[in-house]
Amino acid sequence: MPESSTISAAASGQFSIGNVTVNRLGFGAMRITGAGIWGPPADKAAALATLRRLPEIGVNFIDTADSYGPDVSEELIREALHPYKGLLIATKAGLTRAGPDIWTPNGRPDYLIERAKGSLKKLGIDRIDLWQLHRIDPRVPAGEQFGAVKMLLDQGLIAHAGLSEVSVDDIKAARKVFPVATVQNRYNLVDRGSEDVLDYCEREGIGFIPWYPLAAGELARPGSILDRLATKYGATPSQIALAWVLKRSRVMLPIPGTSKVKHLEENVAAANITLDGEDFAALDKAARESGS
Ligand SMILES: NC(=O)c1ccc[n+]([C@@H]2O[C@H](COP(=O)([O-])OP(=O)(O)OC[C@H]3O[C@@H](n4cnc5c(N)ncnc54)[C@H](OP(=O)(O)O)[C@@H]3O)[C@@H](O)[C@H]2O)c1
Repeated sequence: MPESSTISAAASGQFSIGNVTVNRLGFGAMRITGAGIWGPPADKAAALATLRRLPEIGVNFIDTADSYGPDVSEELIREALHPYKGLLIATKAGLTRAGPDIWTPNGRPDYLIERAKGSLKKLGIDRIDLWQLHRIDPRVPAGEQFGAVKMLLDQGLIAHAGLSEVSVDDIKAARKVFPVATVQNRYNLVDRGSEDVLDYCEREGIGFIPWYPLAAGELARPGSILDRLATKYGATPSQIALAWVLKRSRVMLPIPGTSKVKHLEENVAAANITLDGEDFAALDKAARESGS
């Protein structure tokens, strides 16, 4: 791994969300909360240190949600990083929380608008750069949920809007109501269920935010298909997994999450690894054949 003073997310390349340009390798702020993404983190000082390290190593794209904690992630981001000079803070709403690991969609327009206003308050800003509909609630007509997003845009409470866990048809339907800046779906080397969505986003210039890019640490463990290339590139398996998603598409904006400065630095150092075409294809083939 390079010296921590030379690590920079800028090496991952850039992507523009509206008129804001970010470094493609971002940060997911879900893991800075308690177990089950519930309550405060076990080690608040470590969580704050992780957040404060972000701008120092060029990470200027941070993903959070009202439901992480709930509220805890947004509040810690404010404590560590307000007034966010040069940072794009993306948040979301549309999932309610009744306890650890319990997530229930609520796409009622009044609820979405109330939660977006709550995020403004918690983050201490008067406009959210990127606000994402966390889930399309199957119990509420999609058009009503998209209408709420359009209202937030029209009122200037949010600058850009995105979707999460959606199909190509969902994106097309939403784009009839508001411009879709980003799509956030589960995606990593061995979890490729959203290839069609990624291809669509690439064609349309929509940012694709793969959540779970390390399969919650599974891809960081030794003994996987990543080992051979990790040795060849003098890298860790998680770095190869991140280098692979970054190379997969120019619209790819991975947001690996961690509560530890050490893991953050390791993940961001992946921006400096460029897999050659042959290794990229071999890993792709091995991942598909692993049947995961
Ligand atoms: N849109 C959605 O529905 C949705 C759903 C889930 C997540 N997300 C977003 O996506 C982000 C990333 O997803 P995720 O957190 O589920 O998955 P992830 O980034 O693939 O994995 C995070 C986990 O991997 C561990 N980890 C991170 N870096 C590591 C390293 N270098 N070595 C070893 N372990 C490492 C972390 O533990 P340590 O803390 O110990 O490092 C953490 O438990 C979240 O933060 C959130 O912003 C969105």
